[in-house]
Amino acid sequence: MKLNLKIWRQKDAKTKGKLVDYPIDGIDGDMSFLEMLDVLNEELNNKGEEPVEFDHDCREGICGACSLQINGEPHGPDRLTTTCQLHMRKFSDGDTIYIEPFRATAFPVIKDLIVDRSSFDRIQQAGGFISVNTSGNTVDANAIPIPKENADLSMDNATCIGCGACVAACKNASAMLFTSAKISQFALLPQGRVEAAERVENMVRQMDLEGFGNCTNTGACEVECPKGISLESIARMNREYMSAATEG
Ligand code: FES
Repeated sequence: MKLNLKIWRQKDAKTKGKLVDYPIDGIDGDMSFLEMLDVLNEELNNKGEEPVEFDHDCREGICGACSLQINGEPHGPDRLTTTCQLHMRKFSDGDTIYIEPFRATAFPVIKDLIVDRSSFDRIQQAGGFISVNTSGNTVDANAIPIPKENADLSMDNATCIGCGACVAACKNASAMLFTSAKISQFALLPQGRVEAAERVENMVRQMDLEGFGNCTNTGACEVECPKGISLESIARMNREYMSAATEG
């Protein structure tokens, strides 16, 4: 497969970036998108040019590092798929592919396609911990009855890998899908109820401090989320926030 890649190159956060053309040949449909970039970088290295910087770690859809905007869509054209799990067979011979970093004020570009997503870490840190008595007569986790529906919903929300696709997809660069998933995974379980009010207030405050926008219910985040986190999580977070504010 022959492709024309248009890749965002940017030296650092302070320097203005631009799209640069990279024609590439010999790409197999069974290659992953990142393997295709590996091939390009090998060619650039061989020519003595600077390779394209991009983020990746697990390459199996679990770490959330490989966040690329491909033809205007976070993680590209496939649904429920991270960039590392996207295959080149989704593209056709002769295609032009635009590859850019995720765009949001709270995700400043570090270099080329790599953005700083530590704002997500700070939101998560603001959530704190859950109180579990681990000394003396510790209650066995299995001894606490949890409705199956809640256990499933909690696990669904815990699958959020914090990739930032929800932010990149949102016209407001809102982080509410991410934050609500992290709140829901605890709020739905009895172990998470003890600090629930404090947690939601602190995480929402940090989310606003980081400069993310608000949710206007366009649903773009849900469509682009590689883990299929539902908008219902945002509704749950809003209810949690309202009841925390009323209690307080
Ligand atoms: S590299 Fe880990 S999710 Fe893609």
